[in-house]
Amino acid sequence: MAERLVKASCLLAVIAMVMLPSCRPEDLRRLLLVSFDGFRWDYVQLVATPNFHALMEEGVQVKRMENTYITKTFPNHYSLVTGLHAESHGVVANIMYDPDLNMTFDMDGTEARDPRWWNQATPLWVTNQRAGGRSGAAMWPGSDVEIQQTYPTHFLPYNASMSFEDRVRTLVGWFAQKEQPVSFGVLYWEEPDASGHRLGPDSPEMKPIIADIDAKLGFLRDELKSAGLYDQVNLVVTSDHGMVQLSTERIVELDEYLSRDLYTWIDKSPVVGILPKEGKLEEVYHSLANANPHLHVYKREEIPERFHYMHNDRIMPIIIEAEEGWTVVRNKSDGFMLGNHGYDNALSSMHPVFVARGPAFQHGYSKDSARAVDLYPLMCHILALPPESNNGSLSGLRDLLREATPPTQAPPPTLAPHPHVTEPAYASVVGSLLGVALVLGFLLVFLKQVTRRQLPATPIGNLEISQPLLQDHLDM
Ligand SMILES: *[C@@H]1O[C@H](CO)[C@@H](O)[C@H](O)[C@H]1NC(C)=O
Ligand SMILES: *[C@@H]1O[C@H](CO)[C@@H](O)[C@H](O)[C@H]1NC(C)=O
Ligand SMILES: *[C@@H]1O[C@H](CO)[C@@H](O)[C@H](O)[C@H]1NC(C)=O
Ligand SMILES: *[C@@H]1O[C@H](CO)[C@@H](O)[C@H](O)[C@H]1NC(C)=O
Ligand SMILES: [Zn+2]
Repeated sequence: MAERLVKASCLLAVIAMVMLPSCRPEDLRRLLLVSFDGFRWDYVQLVATPNFHALMEEGVQVKRMENTYITKTFPNHYSLVTGLHAESHGVVANIMYDPDLNMTFDMDGTEARDPRWWNQATPLWVTNQRAGGRSGAAMWPGSDVEIQQTYPTHFLPYNASMSFEDRVRTLVGWFAQKEQPVSFGVLYWEEPDASGHRLGPDSPEMKPIIADIDAKLGFLRDELKSAGLYDQVNLVVTSDHGMVQLSTERIVELDEYLSRDLYTWIDKSPVVGILPKEGKLEEVYHSLANANPHLHVYKREEIPERFHYMHNDRIMPIIIEAEEGWTVVRNKSDGFMLGNHGYDNALSSMHPVFVARGPAFQHGYSKDSARAVDLYPLMCHILALPPESNNGSLSGLRDLLREATPPTQAPPPTLAPHPHVTEPAYASVVGSLLGVALVLGFLLVFLKQVTRRQLPATPIGNLEISQPLLQDHLDM
């Protein structure tokens, strides 16, 4: 019997040696979320994008991500880190008016850093820090704002002039720090959105722009590799929206239908908030309702349910939405672009790209579509954080995960300094020695008990206690 025990223990010691170093939960609980603004889902088919395709092979792909309405930059970036539709997180547009505050928000203005615009929700970096984790943010919309009395542990104040490479070096540095590394990072880059607006997505000049984004993704991969983090950090690369081609042949001028004296115009094409002057709601609505076949005109309470864009005072009493590819202006002095987004989120032209890889994700798995709000519960699951109340569902993206994903019942991340690439042997040796010591210790105690009390041997059942990392706690 003793011989069998020794054999079983040796086997377990070997298992422990193999399992402990690769199952350290902190490996699975690091995530870097990257957004290339305006990267439409099918851009990866437009031109060779070897880095995007490498991530698809090494990890997972959702071909088209269904983003939230309105398909604009600020609302969707806040949805990605809160799992909420715009009506519930409160950043309902890039330019918006709050009647209670009697204030206007413009994403390019200093008021964008006023916490009151953001405090209707709690972004993931705040939740991470409340649970004892550390976060790093490189220019993600809202990440330089003191939301819920909290800044990210590390962040860069928004500066459009800072190069992608500098953003990456800074952020990867926070992940690689020996003391107190971050477990969650967000990274934002303004392209290919800016070029998409200027050139139009159908322009052949977009091809080198897309190729350049792929090269930037390559730079990020290389930086993670040289920091020894490429296989440690879960990397999620997505975007806020797509882009559609416009034309000067497809413009609606509102001045033809409605006097400017009757309303205030809020935001820009293709979805504009109309705030009628006192007592003018019906007059304004009836002037617009059937004015032009290329405009959808909604009273706020009539906005289709599927938009989830109704229950917030920052959504104006009347919303006008241009048909796909159309532009709505007051008159032609308002300015015109060759590409735009913001339209109905059911349109595939509005959908962004999604690829991800890392210890939590499957290899070479692809699916056609998913909802962007489901990314938030997925990220919470990977980081073992309790999600705030949200509009997503883990079931929407759980199939992207490997079978043995991290335990969700686990305590907050310990964030022990992660071994640098030059010293992985150290961690393995410590892990293995710990495993061996545990098993041998148990064996000694057990043999003592058996020889003293002459009890029948039933070792294997109890030994499971030393293997909690193998259990699968997917439910949350
Ligand atoms: C809102 O602010 C403007 C000035 O910014 C002021 O003229 C107006 O009276 C204010 N409206 C209300 C309802 O307080
Ligand atoms: C913005 O970044 C550029 C490039 O790194 C730098 O030269 C400039 O000083 C920065 N501006 C501010 C206000 O920090
Ligand atoms: C557009 O409207 C503004 C304000 O009423 C006016 O000054 C401008 O001349 C108009 N432009 C055109 C092209 O009609
Ligand atoms: C989205 O989530 C918020 C917060 O739980 C909730 O108030 C809202 O009703 C949800 N929206 C939908 C459409 O379920
Ligand atoms: Zn954008």
